[in-house]
Formats: sequence, structure tokens, C-alpha cells
Amino acid sequence: MGSIDTQVHNAFRTAVVPAAGMGTRFLPATKTVPKELLPVVDTPGIELVASEAAESGASKLVIVTAPGKDGVVSHFVEDLVLESRLEESGKSHLLEKVRRAPNLLDVESVVQERPLGLGHAVGCAEQALADDEDAIAVLLPDDLVQPCGILDLMARVRAERGGSVLCAIDVPKSLVGSYGIFHVEEVQGVAEPDVLKVLGMVEKPTLADAPSTLAAAGRYLLDRAVFDALRRIEPGAGGEFQLTDAIALLIDEGHPVHVVVHRGTRHDLGNPGGYLRAAVDSALDSPDYGPGLRRWLLERLELEETVD
Ligand code: G1P
Repeated sequence: MGSIDTQVHNAFRTAVVPAAGMGTRFLPATKTVPKELLPVVDTPGIELVASEAAESGASKLVIVTAPGKDGVVSHFVEDLVLESRLEESGKSHLLEKVRRAPNLLDVESVVQERPLGLGHAVGCAEQALADDEDAIAVLLPDDLVQPCGILDLMARVRAERGGSVLCAIDVPKSLVGSYGIFHVEEVQGVAEPDVLKVLGMVEKPTLADAPSTLAAAGRYLLDRAVFDALRRIEPGAGGEFQLTDAIALLIDEGHPVHVVVHRGTRHDLGNPGGYLRAAVDSALDSPDYGPGLRRWLLERLELEETVD
């Protein structure tokens, strides 16, 4: 087993990124461009999650795609023609950007033939795992969780308490119906108030049925036992095989599940409103675009106030 630090470092090798959705909320753009390739400033969302996974120790990314959505995977393939053109013209900062994705980690794809839900998509990734891998990280590319590093905290909790660990955010009551919602209790004798034990989980409940306002925020560190649970669930919310239901089944069977409550930023890249916030937030932090954007936004908003 080794020390806690070794276990944290080796918590998982494979990160699974479900990217088989049709991106209907982004039509017409997603008619030809997968939503995971839409840029946050200049970097596609899928590269941001790949880089987060790599920083937390993943060496392999398994992208679950739909038939014909392989453009997502191409982003991680070297483009030697483009690279040599940039090199010849001395554009080294662009060359560095272009080389980043292919150098992050090994990327494989598996195809989810039919859109049967997030749980089914994660189940498709099992075939890409080696026999000795006992856990996976799952990162939903719609969720931008910043600053990076939540997976490291989650890995520490798994090393200390076993089982599976998820990331939670506190959402307004009006939004519980859009998320997987946790039923939690405090962990006895723990110094960290943001680590909670999960007693149950329900996908997209009504407000009356929601056990809390703590919602799953697209980062999961799952014991391999989840694949067996995924084979045993029935279609749930929306008629789809839900990852939430497999986790709820594991909990019912005594598998330890904890959450780490994320207190930083989280943007939902899955809809134009959330995506724009993410883009503006990142652009404001950028030395290239931040100062100009800030000035323009202030002017634009002041103008709006006058008009109102
Ligand atoms: C999925 C999960 C849900 C989770 C959410 C986070 O829902 O099923 O449990 O809270 O991602 O973004 P979706 O947004 O795909 O409907």
C-alpha cells in the first residue's frame, strides 16, 4: 500500500471524460463543432479538463465519444505540418500552445454507440482499463472547476477513507433539479469541515425531495466497483442510465462514499450563458485580453445603466 502520500499520488492513472453528448443547447454551432472544442478564450474545454487530470497524476485520458464525433480526439494528435510552419515563422509562443494538448497524456477514445446516459457512457470506458487499475477519475467537460486541484484533495480522502469520493458544490434551491444531489452527514473527528460522508444521492430531484443543496459538480474519483454497479442499475431520471444511481447503489451496499465541498469557482460550459461567464472570467485574468476587456465591460455596463 505505501504511505498516504504515495497512495494519493497513485490514486488513479486513467481519467474518463464523457463527451458523447449532442450539445443541443449550443446549436447551431454544435452542428459541426463538438461543444467540447468550443474555446474558453483560446483553449478548448476538453484541453482544460485534460490538463487538470494530468496535473492530478493521470497518465491516460479515455474520451467517450459518439459515432462521428472524433474531432474531439484529433485535438490531442500532433499536427506536424502546422508545428513546422509555426517553427519556421518563429512563432514559438503559438508552437508551445499547439504542442500542449498532445503532450499532456495518452489519449484513447471509446465510442458510445447510443445516447443511453452518463452512467452508460462511463461504463463504456471499462474496456480501456488495465487489470490492475482499482479506481478511475471521471471529469465532466461541461464543468469547469477552478482553481484546479480538487482531484488531489479527493485522492487524499480516498487514501484515508477508501471507497469513492466526489466533488460537491452548494447550489441555490432553485437549481437542485438540474443536478445529482447528496444526502450527507458530518464525518466524526475530522478537522476538515468540507469533507462529508454521503448517505445517499438522488439525480435531479424536485425541491421537496432534495436531501440538501449540495450538488455533484462533475468530478468523481470512483472505485472500480462502480462498473459492476453500472451493470446492475435500471434507467432512471430522463430514462437514462445515471451515474448517480450506480453510486447510490454502492452506498446502499455499504461502499464508503465521501464528498469534498468545493468552495472555489465552478462554471457550467454546457450552456451558452454559463460558457460566456467562463470565457469572460478567464479573459479578465488574461494579461493579453484582461485589461482591454475590463475597460470595455465597464463602459458597456455603465451605458446600460444610463439606458435603464
Ligand atoms: C450530470 C450528472 C449530475 C451532475 C451534473 C454536473 O448531469 O448526471 O449528477 O450534478 O452532471 O454538471 P447533466 O448536467 O449531464 O444533466
